[in-house]
Amino acid sequence: MSTAATSSLAELKQKIEAREARVGIVGMGYVGLPLALLFSGEKFTVTGFDIAQDKVATLNRGGSYIVRILPEMIQQAQKSGFRATADYSEIDRMDAVIICVPTPLDDFHEPDLSYVKGTVEAIAPHVHNGQLIVLESTTYPGTTEELVVPLLEGGNPAGLKVARGDEASGVHVAFSPEREDPGNETVARHDIPKVVGGCGSVASELAGALYGSIFHRVVPVSSPAIAEMTKLLENIYRCVNIALVNELKQLCMRMGIDIHEVIDAAKTKPFGFQAFYPGPGLGGHCIPIDPFYLSWKARQFDFRTRFIELAGEININMPRFVIEQLTEGLNRERKSINGSKILVLGLAYKRDIDDLRESPSLTILELLRERGASVAYNDPYFPTVGQGRHYALNMTNTPLTNLGQYDAVMIVTDHTTYDYRKIVDEAQLVIDTRNATRGIESSKIVRC
Ligand SMILES: NC(=O)c1ccc[n+]([C@@H]2O[C@H](COP(=O)([O-])OP(=O)(O)OC[C@H]3O[C@@H](n4cnc5c(N)ncnc54)[C@H](O)[C@@H]3O)[C@@H](O)[C@H]2O)c1
Repeated sequence: MSTAATSSLAELKQKIEAREARVGIVGMGYVGLPLALLFSGEKFTVTGFDIAQDKVATLNRGGSYIVRILPEMIQQAQKSGFRATADYSEIDRMDAVIICVPTPLDDFHEPDLSYVKGTVEAIAPHVHNGQLIVLESTTYPGTTEELVVPLLEGGNPAGLKVARGDEASGVHVAFSPEREDPGNETVARHDIPKVVGGCGSVASELAGALYGSIFHRVVPVSSPAIAEMTKLLENIYRCVNIALVNELKQLCMRMGIDIHEVIDAAKTKPFGFQAFYPGPGLGGHCIPIDPFYLSWKARQFDFRTRFIELAGEININMPRFVIEQLTEGLNRERKSINGSKILVLGLAYKRDIDDLRESPSLTILELLRERGASVAYNDPYFPTVGQGRHYALNMTNTPLTNLGQYDAVMIVTDHTTYDYRKIVDEAQLVIDTRNATRGIESSKIVRC
């Protein structure tokens, strides 16, 4: 390492320690915005970049569009210099840039890296020597080195190179996966260890120093690919285990065994078992999507990821399974889905959050409509639900009154604000896909 390079590394580390490093975060969504607030809380001057002008405008007037982030939190961050912009030329003024843009699947269930590509192409002309660039978006192993690095180098008019090995000169690139668990109030964000893998040793060191200022533990790994694969292993582990309990739930129902009582008993084992819970299907931006990033990449190596595919098959079928249980419940009352009035309780993909992405409730509403039901929904987090990439519902929230008018109430998301005893008392039939009515005895309840 040359003396000049060593001193520029020391300079950035010193700036980080002194909270003088300017941090740019690209993508002001569920991941990027909370991260911006964490850095801001540590007195870093943070600039949030987003292509959505409405988000930029909301943030700059001290507002928020995420329920659990209060406007006061944005206003507090503004006092430490936080502001938002859609102008990429400001990337030039940042010491570190963290990319948190979406990584969905396309219509063929293949990785859609257009947001990552779009971001890297847009920032490439503005990056400079000594800057740290970190990708946080979940993706397949190889993305940072095979996609981000060439786009950065190719798009930089000054011919800037990414630093490799122990080179200190150039732009420093790393991958660090986001591990946020929305709605989880038991683990503080800064207590979640942060895995970091750099393209070169300086990138690892700088990223470690940057994240070390807000996370209590940084876990350095030897390459971006290890960090990318770590995130996928975590999510695939979850996806496969959820599929396992979803399958066992179906067997237990046939055998007249309560799967939830089984899980509660099994989890008393102090080693070798972690509890996962069955439900109406997978939702969210991660578990239903991320495993397929790896299946896709595996094909390049002539390899089939059979666990992922099997788990996907079971989990994707769960909305249909719970509709079958509704059919049977109605059948007992000599009714059919066709012509019945059904209320779906909870749209969010999990309890107490305002995120609809990939939620099984969307599939369930569509399947009910297809079968001729008259559907309504209640979810305190969604006054309306319009059109998304995969659905066109255009519905409005129904108040939680006069539940007896519905032929069935289906609990799809177990928000804690619901009074489940009252719901069971008032409803004609309750299809409980989340074990939300545990402890309530009633022949009206179908637990599935
Ligand atoms: N939400 C989670 O709980 C979670 C957890 C772990 C990992 N992740 C991963 O983090 C990444 C981001 O997820 P998210 O939930 O924050 O997504 P999001 O959709 O909530 O936010 C992404 C933001 O990026 C913006 N954006 C898109 N393209 C852009 C561009 N070219 N330039 C600037 N901004 C752009 C969008 O307008 C949006 O505001 C994904 O890869 C996801 O898999 C999410």
